[in-house]
Amino acid sequence: MDSITPGTRPARALTRRRGTAYIRLHYKTLRFPARQDDQQHRAMLAEAQTVLHTWCRQSEWAAPTITGGRGAHLFTDDGRSILDMSSLAECSNLGHQHPQVIEAIRAQAAKLCFVTSAWGAEPRARLAELLLEKSDLSGGRVFFTLGGADANEHAVKFARQAAARPAGWVITRDRSYHGASYAAMALSGDSRTAQQVDAAAYRVIHVPPPYAYRCPFKTRSAEDCGTAAAARIAATMDAQGAQQFAAVLMEPNAGTNGIVAPENFWPALRELTRTRGVYLIADEVMSGFGRCGEWFAWQRYGRENAPDMMSLAKGLTGAHAPLGAVVVAAPVARLLEEQALLTGLTYSGHPLSCAAGVAAIESYQREGLIERSRALGATLLRALQELQAQHTIIGDVRGGHGLFAVVELVRNRDTREPLAPWPQLHPGLRRLLKEALDAGVSFAARGNLILLAPPLVIAERELADALNLLGRLLGPLAQTLRTEESS
Ligand SMILES: Cc1ncc(COP(=O)(O)O)c(C=O)c1O
Repeated sequence: MDSITPGTRPARALTRRRGTAYIRLHYKTLRFPARQDDQQHRAMLAEAQTVLHTWCRQSEWAAPTITGGRGAHLFTDDGRSILDMSSLAECSNLGHQHPQVIEAIRAQAAKLCFVTSAWGAEPRARLAELLLEKSDLSGGRVFFTLGGADANEHAVKFARQAAARPAGWVITRDRSYHGASYAAMALSGDSRTAQQVDAAAYRVIHVPPPYAYRCPFKTRSAEDCGTAAAARIAATMDAQGAQQFAAVLMEPNAGTNGIVAPENFWPALRELTRTRGVYLIADEVMSGFGRCGEWFAWQRYGRENAPDMMSLAKGLTGAHAPLGAVVVAAPVARLLEEQALLTGLTYSGHPLSCAAGVAAIESYQREGLIERSRALGATLLRALQELQAQHTIIGDVRGGHGLFAVVELVRNRDTREPLAPWPQLHPGLRRLLKEALDAGVSFAARGNLILLAPPLVIAERELADALNLLGRLLGPLAQTLRTEESS
């Protein structure tokens, strides 16, 4: 995931004084006695200087070291407990260090760590069965990957193969994120990486998103925005001839880009792809496993709106082990049945990860977490709407179908001018994140959006406290803007 959490921020200074080593972070000085120091100190020193960290300037990386976690909390090596309001990268849906998942990995490790896909493996078979059951795509099949990007790449491969359109075009949205491999970058409509890849060379076309609050089709009606966005996809296909297209790949409901599709968008998309004989791929990497209040976000729209394929990762193991998957519906599986599948990944269906996946699904079910997410999502949305009523800096709040909601910050509610041009992070918002972290809560932000996606096990009290804190910090941020504007 690519949002900014308060752990990554500038102003790192590393100094050594006699007998003591210091790493000075922006918000705190961690102090290690030099003798017992060295292992811990060296680890931090090494990481800041040896690891290439994602989505940041290396010179600015200065995050605390996490040594453990439980439920919605992470523990730092200086003894702090941090409430995680983003499930790290919207992936730790089950909370941190879920005991049953850990035990399943331990038991599987003792039995069998690895066999390739050329051999059968019990947890792989069981996980495929569970995924087909939960998605109601019985008669389908599951291809296992290592994460979300390669799941999306493979979904596109399978769509082209099943459609017998090896060079078929794929339609995705502007301002989407589907992963960081080259093909996934091409699929993504991400301004930060657009220069790194020639999307057309991957036969990908981007279309405007159904972003109701800032609708590219110049309407303020969410429904009209959904209709217009779907109509643009239909028109794009019709202009070239639908037989030139292999698939449309999109997130059904909410995405890490902070867009929550209007209710009519996905059903309209299903209808127009079905009538044109083009596969519909749901990217459920972030939205799956309860995040949007269903096992899979498309289920919100009913069985008749099931995709032809879906890509999964993140919540699939609750991030306890790396794993992704492509689930293909029965008609696609039938088409692929007698054709060679000329692709593979050494670790496809790795038994340790699949054992984690089985235990994760059993835990979602046993603990009623999908229903819990739906109920708490409604609470979250209501609380954010109350904050919006108090703070004019909040332009829009959306989501809340499950424990995923977006707060969009603006300079002016009438003009909807964002805090900073997308995708920049306003320094005042950066400061808010730091102050929240100092108070023990980690929020994630992207551009002018605060993304709320806590683990589905978060206690109601913890959720309420985090939102109260957010409310308290929004006042000073609004004041910063007023000062900026008057100077
Ligand atoms: C919707 C979506 N698709 C795909 C990906 C890529 O997943 P991964 O980082 O596991 O490759 C992400 C990651 O944030 C995502 O949010």
